[in-house]
Amino acid sequence: MKFTQRVQQLPPYLFVEISRRIAAKKAEGKRVVSFGIGDPDLATPDPVLERLAEASHDRPNHRYPETEGLPEFREAVAGWYEKRFGVGLDPKTEVLSLIGAKEGIGHIALGLLEPGDVALQPDPSYPVYNVGTLFAGAEPYWMPLNEEGGWLPNLDAIPTGVAEKAQVMWLNYPNNPTGAVADLDFFDRAVSYCKRNDIALLHDACYTEVAFDGYQPVSALEIPGAKDICLEFHSLSKSYNMTGWRVGMAVGNADLIRALFLVKSNLDSGVSQAVQQMGIRAMDTPQSYLDERNAHYQVRRDNVISALKGVGLNVEPPKASLYVWAPVPAGFTAASFATAILDDLDMVVTPGTGYGKFGEGYIRLSLTLSDDDLEEGVRRLETWKVPTA
Ligand SMILES: Cc1ncc(COP(=O)(O)O)c(C=O)c1O
Repeated sequence: MKFTQRVQQLPPYLFVEISRRIAAKKAEGKRVVSFGIGDPDLATPDPVLERLAEASHDRPNHRYPETEGLPEFREAVAGWYEKRFGVGLDPKTEVLSLIGAKEGIGHIALGLLEPGDVALQPDPSYPVYNVGTLFAGAEPYWMPLNEEGGWLPNLDAIPTGVAEKAQVMWLNYPNNPTGAVADLDFFDRAVSYCKRNDIALLHDACYTEVAFDGYQPVSALEIPGAKDICLEFHSLSKSYNMTGWRVGMAVGNADLIRALFLVKSNLDSGVSQAVQQMGIRAMDTPQSYLDERNAHYQVRRDNVISALKGVGLNVEPPKASLYVWAPVPAGFTAASFATAILDDLDMVVTPGTGYGKFGEGYIRLSLTLSDDDLEEGVRRLETWKVPTA
């Protein structure tokens, strides 16, 4: 069997390798504590599950959905954006349902990029932006993120020749893997830059509802005129503990929505209607539920940070997202430190290099494991004597 160059060029999907390592440890009879993948352990809210039970009996839900999503789902998304960000959207032309944000993020590349085009992508970043770019035969231009720059790309450092070839710029705040956030001032600059250079701004906003210490993440669409060039990807996965149900949305510029619709309507058959109805109910979840859920994650965040500080790591608490991004001790690489943690503590953390070469020197810990596992992980860290590199 011959595989295409398209798939042969891909690095192994990060979490496949991590799952393999966990399985090997478990086969040795070890209790593995995984701070690896960001997949909420907390349950989908009960009212959302109850909606699925009802919706499963509705005969129209047994049939194919429309790609663009139910009108009432798109209206609920527009209502949620208005309430949450003060952003007005036309549910008919500026909202599209997605089978989770990942699907839309991958597919949009097929609508906007072709060989010879460039996609501006942050490094480190969620790997799917680059997969879409490679599948479309286009080329990435990596915008380095680092601590000095607040994990924001330096737009002035992008060479003019690159900007001329660029069709899209990917941004993601609150950020995976760094936990960094971006304010309206940064988005204002990004929107101006993209307008000036005729680039579509693709913002992955999946983590806006997971935030701490009273911080409120923003939407890029809050910038006046952003809708001229911006498409924002959002998801109910992390917002409402719904990764298993696969529902998200793309919102923003109507032409960009149309490009994504054309790709999707030819390749997939949309989000199960019953799941969209769950999504409508989810977007009605009272803020108090999210506040409590975030307080729960915040306790986990603080426990992990204090354990990491205990082993000498100088970690900043993230204001949002599900991730702690920690610099490794001198003498270690991201991979060698992650391996030391796996070997010594039977614990999985992700090396920053899994997200790009500028992730070197960092590990990522996800806060989405059970409280029991998290406490066990913290205990193991507290008694760990870090080996010399
Ligand atoms: C930055 C980022 N974007 C998108 C996704 C995909 O989310 P979804 O479950 O909506 O496909 C993830 C999932 O981990 C993510 O970290």
